[in-house]
Amino acid sequence: MYKILEKKVLNIDVDLMVVEAPLVARNALPGHFIILRVDELGERIPLTIVDIDGQNVSIIYQKLGYSTSLLGELKVGDEILDFVGPLGKPAHIHDVKTVLGIAGGVGAAPLLPQLKEYAARGIKVDLVIGARNKDYIILLDKYEEICENIYIATDDGSLGTKGFVTTVLTELYKTKKYDQTIAIGPLVMMKFVVAMNKKYNVPTDVSLNPIMIDGTGMCGNCRVTIDGKTFFACIDGPDFPGEGVDFDELIARQDYYSEEEHICNLKLVKK
Ligand code: NAD
Ligand code: FES
Repeated sequence: MYKILEKKVLNIDVDLMVVEAPLVARNALPGHFIILRVDELGERIPLTIVDIDGQNVSIIYQKLGYSTSLLGELKVGDEILDFVGPLGKPAHIHDVKTVLGIAGGVGAAPLLPQLKEYAARGIKVDLVIGARNKDYIILLDKYEEICENIYIATDDGSLGTKGFVTTVLTELYKTKKYDQTIAIGPLVMMKFVVAMNKKYNVPTDVSLNPIMIDGTGMCGNCRVTIDGKTFFACIDGPDFPGEGVDFDELIARQDYYSEEEHICNLKLVKK
């Protein structure tokens, strides 16, 4: 069992949790993730490791469905049944001079450990962070510790530029050039960021989070197509160079699961 040591509400949908998990903490690198189960009936929830402090692991989750809502009901002192990791491949840290992180919504959580690693290596790090409104901009204090410049976008204009991260990028690229970018957020955001970056000849790493079941390459559920070849996000990723990713296929599959979940919920309501 894995004890919850701290819990912090980041906004109405998103919490940060610090969990005592010494074996995971000892072996984790930026980009690794864990899969947890709240209890015996719980679904497996994959979450990127956001931070390590001694024997403790920080995770951030969005209360989107049944299992993440169940996780959100746990309190400090409660225990999580399974907390397996580190899983996946660590993110590739490029040998470059300048890096731009591009975070969309809760994607700011998995981006943080990668940007921290670049900053720790003395690489100049900037950030573009976007969210639907100012309350959904998370981890700004942590990013302020490592970034030279932070550019904010909100869909409603309540903080920073009114618009998407791509609105900010359009302006930023008029004066700045980066050796490498890392974009993490909704699939549609990563799709459009990669397309824009291709025009400016800037490489983009992305983090892919298709539905995962076992997290060990056995079930095939997390498959992604990159340059026409099949990869499994759980063992080959979750971070990949974004240029060859078939985002349309991933978006179609994500919508399929959302519709399935919607139909299941309707059936439950009708019973
Ligand atoms: P959201 O839908 O509120 O979008 C966040 C920001 O992304 C927007 O404010 C905007 O700046 C940008 N964005 C959205 N659509 C865009 C478009 N068409 N073009 C350009 N930019 C666009 O995000 P949210 O609700 O916080 O995130 C939820 C989604 O993020 C979920 O689908 C979740 O699965 C995904 N997610 C992905 C990862 C990952 O590792 N890839 C991690 C966490 C969450
Ligand atoms: Fe089953 Fe990746 S989650 S193969």
